[in-house]
Amino acid sequence: MTAREKPKNLWMGRWGFVLAATGSSVGLGNIWKFPYMTGEYGGGAFVLVYLACIAAIGIPIMIAEIGFGRRGRGSPIDAIRRVARESGRGSGWSLIGWMAMLCGFMILSFYVVVAGWSVSYLWKAISGGLNADSVDGMAAIFAANNANPWNLGFWSTLVTLATMFIVGKGVQEGIERSVSWMMPGLVIMLLIMIGYAMFSGGFGAAVDFLFGFELGKLSSEGLLAAMGHCFFTLSLASGAIMTYGAYLPDGKSIARTTFVVAICDTTVALMAGLAIFPIIFANGMDPSSGPGLIFMSLPLAFQQMPFGTLLEIIFFIMLTVAALTSAISMVEATIAWLNESKGISRVKASWGVGILLWIVSTLAMLSFNVGADWTLAGKHFFGWLDYLTSRFMMPLGGLGMAVLAGFVLRNEIFRSELGLSNAQHALWLFMIRYVSPLGIVLIFIDALGVMDL
Ligand code: PFF
Ligand code: NA
Repeated sequence: MTAREKPKNLWMGRWGFVLAATGSSVGLGNIWKFPYMTGEYGGGAFVLVYLACIAAIGIPIMIAEIGFGRRGRGSPIDAIRRVARESGRGSGWSLIGWMAMLCGFMILSFYVVVAGWSVSYLWKAISGGLNADSVDGMAAIFAANNANPWNLGFWSTLVTLATMFIVGKGVQEGIERSVSWMMPGLVIMLLIMIGYAMFSGGFGAAVDFLFGFELGKLSSEGLLAAMGHCFFTLSLASGAIMTYGAYLPDGKSIARTTFVVAICDTTVALMAGLAIFPIIFANGMDPSSGPGLIFMSLPLAFQQMPFGTLLEIIFFIMLTVAALTSAISMVEATIAWLNESKGISRVKASWGVGILLWIVSTLAMLSFNVGADWTLAGKHFFGWLDYLTSRFMMPLGGLGMAVLAGFVLRNEIFRSELGLSNAQHALWLFMIRYVSPLGIVLIFIDALGVMDL
C-alpha cells in the first residue's frame, strides 16, 4: 500500500471549499440552462425527473467525487490512479480522470460564449442598448448581437482572459480569493432579484408550469436531458469538484458539504425558474424558445418595471459572476495536472490552455454566425459540445466513478475518507452501488431507442 499523498494546496479559509464548490455549481446551468430546458421539455415533468436525478444520482456521486479528490490529492488523472492503486488496481481507471478533464475543457469552450452573451448584455444594459417594445424586438437584438463574429468574439475572449487570469494566480490567491467576494455578492444580488420578483406578481402560471407534474409528458429525450443536466448543474464528472476536493483539508465532512452545495444549486435553479417564467407567460412568449430564452424575455420585462435598468444591470452582473466562478472550476483540473504532473508553472499552463481554449471557443462562437451551417446531424459545433458532454461524457464518467467507488475499491478507503456513521455509510454504499448506476444505465437504454444519430 502506498503512503497517503500529501496535499500540495489546501483551501486557506474555513469556507474555502464550500464557497468554491458552490461557486462552481451555481452558474449558467441554473439561470440560463435550467429555465430554457424546462421550457423545451415541457415543464413540471422535466423538473420532477431532474430533482429525482439530483437526489438519486447527483448527490451520491458528488460525495464519491470529492472523496476521490481528497484521497488522491491531485488532478482527476492522478487522484483516481492513486486511489485505484491503493486498492491494488491498475492505472487504467485513470481514464475516468482523462475523460473528466477533457469534458471540463469542452464545457468551458461553449460556456465562455454564453458568459460572453452575459457580459455583452451587461454592457448593453449600461449603455442603453436593450430597448425594444416587443418580444420580436428583443429577439432581433439577440440575433444582431450574435451576427457579428467580431462583436461576439470580443466578449467571449474577455471571459476567457478573465478566467485564465484568475486560475493562473493560484488556488488560494486566485480562486479562493475571488470566490470569497464574488459568492457573497452573488447572494446579495440574488436576494434583491427575488425580493423584486415577488412583488412583480404573476407567479401562478409559473408555479403551475414548473410544478405541475405530468409524467406522461416526458419523452425519453427529456429523461436523458434531465440526467445530463443533473451532472452539469452540480459540476460532476468534469474534473471541477474532484480537483476542488483535492484541496479540502482532512477532517471536514464531505457528505455535509455536498448537501450544502446541492441544496444551494437546486434552490437557485428553482428560483431562477420562478423569476423567469412569470415574465414569459405574462408576455405571451414561447417557453420553448431555446438558449436565447433569458436574453429575450428578461430585458423586455425589466423595461416595464420601475428601476428596471438598475435591476437589469444587477442581473447581468450576477449572471456574469455566477458564470466566472463556474468557468474557473472547469479548467482547474487541467491546470493542476499540468502543474503537478508536468512541472509547468500555473501561469504558463494558463497561457497554454487559454490559447487552446480561445481557439475552440472561437469555433463554438462561430456557430452563431458564419459557422451556423457547419452542422452535423442538425447540430452545430456549439450544440455538439453541449450535447456530447451532458448526454454522454458526464453520465459515463459518473457511472465509472460509481462502479469504482462502489465495487472495485477496498471498502475501508471510502469508509475512512467519508467518516460516516455505519447506517449513513450503508445508505451511501447502496446508492452508489445500485441506485445511481442503475439509474444511469436505464436512462441510457431508454434513450438508445430514440436516438437519431
Ligand atoms: N455547474 C455549472 C453550472 O451549473 O453552470 C456548470 C459546470 C461547472 C459544469 C463546472 C461542469 C463543471 F466542471
Ligand atoms: Na449549477
